[in-house]
Amino acid sequence: MALFDNENVRLDILKERAYNYRWAEVPPGTIPLTAADPDYPAAPEIARAMEEYIRGGYFSYTPKMGFPSFRKSIARALKERKGEEIDPELILPLDSAARAMYVAAAACLEPGDEMIVFDPVDYLFRESCLAAGGRTVLFPARVRDGHIDLTGLEECITPRTRMLGLCNPHNPLGVLYTVEDMERIMALCEKYDLTIMNDEIWSDIVYPEKPFVSIYALGSERCRRVLSVFGFSKSFGIAGLRVGCLYATDPVRFTKAVEKSAVMTTAGGIASICQVAGQACVDECYYWVDAFLEHLKANRDYGYRRLCEMPMLKPALPQATYMFYVDITQTGMTGEAFTDFLKDRVQLAIVPGGEKFFGSGSEGHVRICFATSRAILEEGLNRLERGVRLLAEEKKA
Ligand SMILES: Cc1ncc(COP(=O)(O)O)c(C=O)c1O
Repeated sequence: MALFDNENVRLDILKERAYNYRWAEVPPGTIPLTAADPDYPAAPEIARAMEEYIRGGYFSYTPKMGFPSFRKSIARALKERKGEEIDPELILPLDSAARAMYVAAAACLEPGDEMIVFDPVDYLFRESCLAAGGRTVLFPARVRDGHIDLTGLEECITPRTRMLGLCNPHNPLGVLYTVEDMERIMALCEKYDLTIMNDEIWSDIVYPEKPFVSIYALGSERCRRVLSVFGFSKSFGIAGLRVGCLYATDPVRFTKAVEKSAVMTTAGGIASICQVAGQACVDECYYWVDAFLEHLKANRDYGYRRLCEMPMLKPALPQATYMFYVDITQTGMTGEAFTDFLKDRVQLAIVPGGEKFFGSGSEGHVRICFATSRAILEEGLNRLERGVRLLAEEKKA
């Protein structure tokens, strides 16, 4: 059986274990194409590495900065996969990308400081800023000609601005930045002395038409003002293990982040077994990521074709990520009302746009995850199609 065959999705286990709007939380019979979390089990090498560690029988304290071998493996993967030159000494393993974002915001913002947050974007940008006592200034992110139009970004900057949040690739818009975009963002951050929170959690899930360009393409020296975040949930499907990291090229900013992470007091940090899993991911499992990506591309192309044929929906073709971002304004409904309708009438759960998850700039949109089998995706899209046709009929009546 191939890795991403339909039979490899274990619904019996998912219904017990997959939370966060997924199988364990939806009513029986409902299909969740919701949180960005694969329906496939993780690569077997991960469980094998964990089993071996567990058999050793000791679960002692770990080095406060994380296992040196894990930090080296992350540095090697960043170099090999993305061309990023990062010193392992400036990589801090943490218990999730979400945590790394909170740490980065706390390291940079004083109460009342401002952070530029794109609208829409994943809610963790806003939440990490607010948790640090900061204030968000929203930049309306609109896609034009396949990338985010940065016109007007400079007008968001005030004397209190200290940080800019960069989600590359972008969730939920599914777009990549070009090197010219990076240059523009960096030039502004240099002009106003801003730190960049650079979230690359989606950087492995990129389709062949357009390359992923990291901000590090501008050179390590210019990236001293960047605090980067990576997480293992999206590429490797291990969200529940909470594995992520923060990295930098500036020792001063990095040291501040370490201080804020509370790893030195042991109040913060990542469990030994989760580091073992993370190390197996980067050392042994990129073959799995590449095979997953092929499966995802086929799902993306199929799903996009289907969505384009449905009345009242305007999907965007994702350049990256495993979610469709779909304009539903022709339904005349809010994201919440539309997703409630689908849940009630056709037993399909998807994520509404709007303030809660991505910011008010995502109102009139929904997000649909396709990190599942072709059979489940097909059934989910059949239900969506039935739902929109029902809506169209009810509107006519
Ligand atoms: C852009 C972005 N950043 C961070 C996260 C959080 O990832 P983690 O599960 O590693 O905390 C997500 C999860 O959806 C995300 O989409």
